[in-house]
Amino acid sequence: MSQDSFSLKNPNNGETTDLQVRSGTVGPDVVDIRKLYASQGVFTFDPGFAATASCESKITYIDGAQGVLMYRGYPIEQLAKQSSFVEVAYLLLYGELPDGEQLAAFEQSIRLHTMINETMLRLFNGFHYDAHPMAMVAGVVGSMSAFYHDTTDIYDQRHRDIFAHRIIAKIPTIAAAAYKHTLGQPFSYPRNDLDYASNLLHMFFAVPAETYEIDPVAAEALDLLFILHADHEQNCSTSTVRLAGSSGANPYSAIAAGIAALWGPAHGGANEAVLTMLQEIGSVDRIETYVAKAKDKDDPFRLMGFGHRVYKNFDPRATLIREACHKVLARLGRVDTPLFDLALRLEEIALQDEYFIEKKLYPNVDFYSGIIYRALGLPTSMFTVMFAIARTVGWVSQWREMIADPDGRIGRPRQLYTGPPKRDYVPITER
Ligand code: SDX
Repeated sequence: MSQDSFSLKNPNNGETTDLQVRSGTVGPDVVDIRKLYASQGVFTFDPGFAATASCESKITYIDGAQGVLMYRGYPIEQLAKQSSFVEVAYLLLYGELPDGEQLAAFEQSIRLHTMINETMLRLFNGFHYDAHPMAMVAGVVGSMSAFYHDTTDIYDQRHRDIFAHRIIAKIPTIAAAAYKHTLGQPFSYPRNDLDYASNLLHMFFAVPAETYEIDPVAAEALDLLFILHADHEQNCSTSTVRLAGSSGANPYSAIAAGIAALWGPAHGGANEAVLTMLQEIGSVDRIETYVAKAKDKDDPFRLMGFGHRVYKNFDPRATLIREACHKVLARLGRVDTPLFDLALRLEEIALQDEYFIEKKLYPNVDFYSGIIYRALGLPTSMFTVMFAIARTVGWVSQWREMIADPDGRIGRPRQLYTGPPKRDYVPITER
């Protein structure tokens, strides 16, 4: 039975404060420090929030030591094998698996909202052909707050539902428009007769000059990748969406902030960085050199796709994606799999190395995902966009939970100030 409070004695004045300990369904207890500053005049200090629970949530749970990931209590392995991305989206948004009628209605609502305003399409003409797709997607998603004024009462449940369905339905269309812009190809409109992943493949790869056949293996692989990337507790981009949303900002702009945060190479941008790294390593005989660089404190090089703030064991998503790589490459008839073979060998060597063992650095979700995106024909610049499409479901689900929280407050962390003490202004003639 865990204790129900922590007694904290201030060494400067002997004052003691009892801080309540709260337990969740599963996972570490938390010490509620909300009254700490008022009672003891001190802040806690936790840059990067490695030991801080920023909120209470019922959506996703990770056990980093055991390599466990659950969406609303369902293990990711079961959802990956038995569910679909649209069904997982419903689960994350509404908390329960839908029955047949609920799923059909939800799926239909998404299908009927995939088109974007024609003037939004014209925004892409403002970008150079070589603009990074993540920059275009972040910009155009942010512009949705300029188009959709009709449903911005975020305290109205119906408006929150319309926002959720709209952004989940339209993010693939915006992503495809960005991709087509980089190619200089005409945009392919979404089709209501296709499922979520197949529609995305159609919008990415169909051209007016010929009919495009959806490869079911590719659609199945995409659907799996979307399930695995859908949500992940209070990661950097989700925390960004919660913080931006906590001010009552337009929800589309909060999602745009999440896309911007995801783009960083330490976060979702790692999947693009992994492929660049594998291409730079080039061959198995150069792996040792790069592993040595990753271990060298004086070398900024890191093994991209390795390590995780929470997982100190295998990222279960990496395991599932690695399995999918084998299947997808074989069924797509890929014989030229040097990058996948290189990735497998790199994993094998790294996981036998004392440095990676001691620091508990395992492959994360980004290590293998790019292998599949590349096999599907996508350029590395689109990899993080794929992550953003899937994570939009998680961002929206977490934003809804935050907005509906009756105790919700604007996020406003404090700091430890170590700047100059008070001093008087010195006129320039006296400096
Ligand atoms: C995602 O949070 C999430 O849930 C994110 C995510 C999600 O679904 O939302 O899972 C998606 O972002 C996955 C992570 C993708 N990023 C990468 O693959 C980039 C490479 N990995 C790292 O930069 C790093 O591991 C992080 C950013 C993922 C985690 O960083 P932490 O928790 O702040 O850990 P750290 O940087 O303090 O590293 C701890 C030690 C350090 O050595 P010491 O200072 O203790 O001697 O491990 C070393 C680091 O130098 N280290 C690495 C390493 N990652 C950490 N050394 C070599 N190669 C690496 N990849």
